[in-house]
Amino acid sequence: MRTRTLGRTGPAVSALGLGLMGMSDLYGPADETESVATVHAALDGGVTLLDTGDFYGMGHNEMLLREALRGRDRDKAVISVKFGALRGPDGAWLGYDSRPEAVKTFLAYSLRRLGTDHIDVYRPARLDPAVPIEDQVGALAELVQAGYIRHIGLSEVGAETLRRAAAVHPISDLQIEYSLLSRGIEAEILPVARELGIGVTAYGVLSRGLLSGHWTPSRELTAADFRSHSPRFQGENLDRNLALTDALGKLAAAKGVTTAQLAIAWVAAQGEDIVPLVGARTRVRLAESLGTTDVELTGAELAEIEAAVPAGAAAGGRYAAAQLDHLDSEK
Ligand SMILES: NC(=O)c1ccc[n+]([C@@H]2O[C@H](COP(=O)([O-])OP(=O)(O)OC[C@H]3O[C@@H](n4cnc5c(N)ncnc54)[C@H](OP(=O)(O)O)[C@@H]3O)[C@@H](O)[C@H]2O)c1
Repeated sequence: MRTRTLGRTGPAVSALGLGLMGMSDLYGPADETESVATVHAALDGGVTLLDTGDFYGMGHNEMLLREALRGRDRDKAVISVKFGALRGPDGAWLGYDSRPEAVKTFLAYSLRRLGTDHIDVYRPARLDPAVPIEDQVGALAELVQAGYIRHIGLSEVGAETLRRAAAVHPISDLQIEYSLLSRGIEAEILPVARELGIGVTAYGVLSRGLLSGHWTPSRELTAADFRSHSPRFQGENLDRNLALTDALGKLAAAKGVTTAQLAIAWVAAQGEDIVPLVGARTRVRLAESLGTTDVELTGAELAEIEAAVPAGAAAGGRYAAAQLDHLDSEK
């Protein structure tokens, strides 16, 4: 597995990261034994970057990661944790809290659940509009000083917030959605991240399964599944988006790779400062994703992909309106 470095100040990580979210939340039922086996297979395959959030399954995802790391070398893993989302016992989303005292409290609980004395990259999941970013990063900087976290990351924030944050303390990486169907970062956020030496961990590289070649309109979705209310997965939008996936699939077949592999390779090809995170929940999906690390794309192939799935071609927004409202990156 090749490595990439997260920004100018962040850690070296595997060129492909594993996101654990779907093992606890948002993508319907997951099998815990298979989830742990998937994390083990990722570690054995050279994946070091493991991304979670304290609110994924209300602590379940962190406890799953702790279980998966039992008996493994903790120091070989780069654990990235998002915090700040407030959720009720029924899973309801209640807002975001990044007050300095809340940041410290969230961290204390995460360290306990993860069974570790430090987190490698710690980041607010969304910008809390009630707290100046300088204060949020200031609180995180104190935690770096104290040795509880190694690096500060951000998630789904815009260019101005990146500038203000980086003026307080070095930021290792911005975690943000980036795929053939979600190219919003290209105009301003990515250039500013590059100017500031901030890396990108790209999530949703398969557009939550839509770009994988495995999605079918007949897939049953529970009410708690993100995709049951995602605009891109509804009615005519879904048909149009799956037509784009088919076009990508033809290019993939010609190259002898799978649709998912081409979609992931496209993101990886956008820069050495970008690390795709994949949301594999099973060893089979993981194996497919890991097959990407050897896929090289020529300029001609990148142009063909661009022609098949041009920027802006996706039908429907990447989040429903109420969720978009929390994205500083979309303001
Ligand atoms: N910062 C943020 O705001 C934010 C938001 C969302 C996610 N994330 C992080 O990013 C990670 C990845 O995001 P995501 O899960 O939305 O992205 P994704 O990789 O685009 O989508 C994952 C979905 O695609 C399906 N899939 C089909 N083929 C696959 C393959 N070969 N490899 C992997 N998955 C395949 C998955 O498996 P099934 O077939 O099993 O369903 C799952 O339903 C998350 O786990 C989380 O850690 C961050």
